[in-house]
Amino acid sequence: MPSKKYPFLNFHVDHMAMHTEPGMYSAAYIFYRVIFGVSKEDVIYEKRLEWEKGQGEESMTYAVCIGRNKAAEGSLQNTMIAMIQPSEPKSRPSHSRKLLTDHSSSAFWQHIALRTSDLLEFHKYAVERGVNFITPIMKDDDDDLIQVFSGEWYIPGSKPSGTFFEFVQREINPALLKKIEEHNRESWFRDKTFLGLYEEKEKEYQSGEIKPFVDPELFDKVNSLIKGKKFWEITESDIGNAEKAMIEYAKFRSQAKVAK
Ligand SMILES: [Fe+2]
Repeated sequence: MPSKKYPFLNFHVDHMAMHTEPGMYSAAYIFYRVIFGVSKEDVIYEKRLEWEKGQGEESMTYAVCIGRNKAAEGSLQNTMIAMIQPSEPKSRPSHSRKLLTDHSSSAFWQHIALRTSDLLEFHKYAVERGVNFITPIMKDDDDDLIQVFSGEWYIPGSKPSGTFFEFVQREINPALLKKIEEHNRESWFRDKTFLGLYEEKEKEYQSGEIKPFVDPELFDKVNSLIKGKKFWEITESDIGNAEKAMIEYAKFRSQAKVAK
C-alpha cells in the first residue's frame, strides 16, 4: 500500500477502453488473439446494434481479458481492454468518429478504469473536491459491480480531449465467483452500462457541452496557485492550498445549488 490518505485511494487498473477506426477494429482483434494470447473465451463482451432496420448489425464494442491473476484469496485481478468503433452509419452523428477525426488518429485511449475498495467513499471524497462525474454511480442488479465516470481532462476553452477516468468497485463475493465460473462472462461488462455511457457521451458531443473533470473556474483557480512555477517547484503547501481551494469551491457550488 503506497502512502495514501485513505485505503479507497489505493487504485488498481481494472480495464482500459480505446476508440478505434473501423479499419483497425477487427485487425486489433487479430492482434489480441495472436500477440496478446487472447482466446475465444477471453472475449468477455461484445455488443452489436442494428442502427437502421434492414442494414444489418454492426459491432459497437468488444472487450478482451488480456491477463488473469488470482491474487489474494477470493480476489480476482483481471486486466481487460475494451475496444470501441464508430459503428453508426455515415448519415448519423458519432462522437466516437468525431473524436478520432479531431485527434487525426486511428486509435486513442478513451478511459482507464481504476478499481477502488470503496467507491461510495471515493466518490464523496472527489465530489467534495469539485470533481465532476458525467453519470451517477451505476449499480448492477446483483450489487456486485458499481462504477462511475468522471468528466474529461482538458484545458478550459480548448477542445475536449475525449479522455476520462472510470472508477469501479467489484465486490468479489462467492456469488460473483460462481457466476464467473459458470461462464457468465458478460457479468464484467453490462449492456446497460456500456450503452448508458455511450449515449451520455453522444449527448454531450451533440450538444457541444462536454463536462470537464473540474469546472473551468476551479481549474483556473488551481492553475493560478502555481502560476509561473516549474513542476519541481510545486511545494507541499501549494498542494495543501490547492486542496483547500477545491474543497471551498465544491462547498460553495453545492450551497449555490441548494439555494437555487
Ligand atoms: Fe469502462
